[in-house]
Parts: sequence; structure tokens; C-alpha cells
Amino acid sequence: MFAVVLVGGFGTRLRPLTNDIPKPLLPLGQRTILECLMSQLSRGGVTDAVLALGFKPEPFLAAFPDARCAGVRLHYAIESSPLDTAGAIGFAARSVGLHEKTETFVVANGDIVTDLSIAALIAQHRANLRLGALATIHLTPVDDPSQYGVVQFDSLLPTGGKVSGFVEKPAPGTVSSRHVNAGTYVFESAVLRRLPGDAPLSVERVTFPALATAGELFAYPTDDYWLDAGRPDTYVRGNVDLINGVRSERDVAIHATARIDATAEVSNSVVGAGASIAAGAQVVDSVIFPNATIGARARVRSSAVLGTVAADAEVRDALVGAGGHQ
Ligand code: GDD
Ligand code: MG
Repeated sequence: MFAVVLVGGFGTRLRPLTNDIPKPLLPLGQRTILECLMSQLSRGGVTDAVLALGFKPEPFLAAFPDARCAGVRLHYAIESSPLDTAGAIGFAARSVGLHEKTETFVVANGDIVTDLSIAALIAQHRANLRLGALATIHLTPVDDPSQYGVVQFDSLLPTGGKVSGFVEKPAPGTVSSRHVNAGTYVFESAVLRRLPGDAPLSVERVTFPALATAGELFAYPTDDYWLDAGRPDTYVRGNVDLINGVRSERDVAIHATARIDATAEVSNSVVGAGASIAAGAQVVDSVIFPNATIGARARVRSSAVLGTVAADAEVRDALVGAGGHQ
């Protein structure tokens, strides 16, 4: 089965980390967000993934020189200018000929961290086909839906039902549903008729509302672990949750090649390969990237560090890029 993975966004909310590294290639535990997503897709039966690329395609090509990731064969669709989500899906799916087939395929936002079973989502979509489904979208409940695509659906069925409304990032207080689009979808290739892939188009603002009006969009709500790692706080939380047993899978906190002085204190944090933490430093609830350096007596809390934090510096709720922090 194919998946189209959207990885072409600018990652603006995670600057300066994303000045150097596209968002899906940022560390998540000892792997990257994209590697975690690929192994999840692979477990769900996905064999081939088309990476819908725009901004900075080169690091992806370099990261997977044999065009495989977590056992999934990779294909690349590189946009010459940003096509937005629906444009990108249409362009990428066409590049591997999905528009010429009758086939079911998965679509995933490239920044989602979740314990969702892709196999269960696909099975529910297949059950929805006899009710006229062309697409099934994973939903998750959140406290503040205004930053997401808010979805109204027929909740009489325990497995979800028809979507009756889809509003992308509504003004706070204007919607009643707490369920939002969780960024993983199953599409029939017939949906590609609505996705020409030759101009910018938004799946959230145009395609989903149109499919909902036609009665062809179905919901699959779950309360699995879920977050969108595209914001500073959720990016750090996604990392910390992966090492402290909140998830159905777990990764090691400190890479075997990291150098941590015996007098440094590191707690509830991910420390990548080759990173170094000097004497007396304190690192709490943070992500220290591969090869990053934390100077002597520095204090780092609830932050992600790609470069260098100087000796005696204090960093809190921050993203430290290649330029470092004095
Ligand atoms: N190829 C390509 N081209 N990819 C793009 C483009 C583009 O022009 N624009 C965005 N993307 C990719 C991003 O890289 C990301 O993986 C995905 O599309 C979604 O973009 P985000 O910028 O992360 O959107 P969001 O987080 O604000 O909202 C989306 O995700 C929410 C769930 O986390 C929407 O799908 C919401 O409806 C949803 O609730
Ligand atoms: Mg996002």
C-alpha cells in the first residue's frame, strides 16, 4: 500500500531549529520524527511512501541514500513552488500513478506523533466504503480546538460516522466540537479527481468541506496518544514522552556516544549521539541534539538545543539553533 507523506512545509514555528533541518528530520528520541512515522506506517501495511517535498528537499535525499526508511520504499515528489496540502497530495499521488488506479492509500502530515494503529484506521475506512466513503480521517479530542481543523461528525456510531462539518482553525468559541483533524487520512484514489495537483489548494479549507457536503467523508475518533510536534512546547513534550513510558513504545534517553560529565545533572531529557554536557550543568525536560554542547554550569530547562549553550548560561522554554546561546 502507498502513503503520501506531507513534508514540504516551512516549519516556521520551530525556527531556528528548522533553519538547518526540515521539521520531519528533527530528532524524536534517538530517531527522527519521519523515521518514527515511517515505522508506524510500515506496521500498518504501508510498503511505499511518496514524500511530498517542497522546502529543502536535499536533506531528505541525503538522509535516505538508499531510498528506504524503516523498511518502507521512498519516492520523492518535489514541488517547484508550494502547492499547499491538497495540491501537494494531488501532485505526489499522481507522480506514482495513483490517479490511474482504483486503490486505497494513506495520507499523513509529517509532524504527527501518535500511537494510532494505521491498520485499524484502514480497516474502519474499508468498513465505511459500503456507506459511500471516499475518505476517512483520524480525529483526536483536544482542549483548545482553535489551532486545528475542527470536525463535526455523527457520533452515534462508536467507530465514528459521517463528517457533517470541517472548519480549519476557527476563531475561539465559534465551534462546539472538541474533536480535531489528527492529520492521518485514508483516501480512495477517486478523491484525486478533486485534487489536480497543478496549483495551490488546501485539503482542510476546500477538499474536506466539499467531501463532507457530499457525504463522502468519515471520521475515526480515538483517544490514542497524539500530538502535533510542530510547536516548540509539543516538540519538546513529544521527545520527553517517548523516553518516560507514556507511549506504547519507548526509546533510550541518552545515546551511548553522548559525553556527560559525572557532576552534570540530566533528567527527563533526550541526549543525542555525540552530544556533550560539561561539569555542573543541569538539563531538565529538554532535547539535546546530536553533537550539541552544553557548557559548564549552564542550566537548560524545557528547551531544545541544536548548537552550543555557553558556560553559566541559563536557557528556559527556548529553541537554541546553530548560532548557540551565550
Ligand atoms: N509538500 C507540501 N507542500 N507540504 C506542505 C505544504 C506545501 O505547500 N504546506 C504544508 N505542508 C505540510 C507540512 O510540512 C506538514 O507536514 C503538513 O503539511 C501540515 O502542515 P502544518 O503547517 O503542520 O499544519 P498545521 O499543523 O497548522 O495544521 C494541520 O495539522 C493539524 C493536526 O496537527 C491541519 O491538517 C489541521 O487540520 C490539523 O488539525
Ligand atoms: Mg502541524
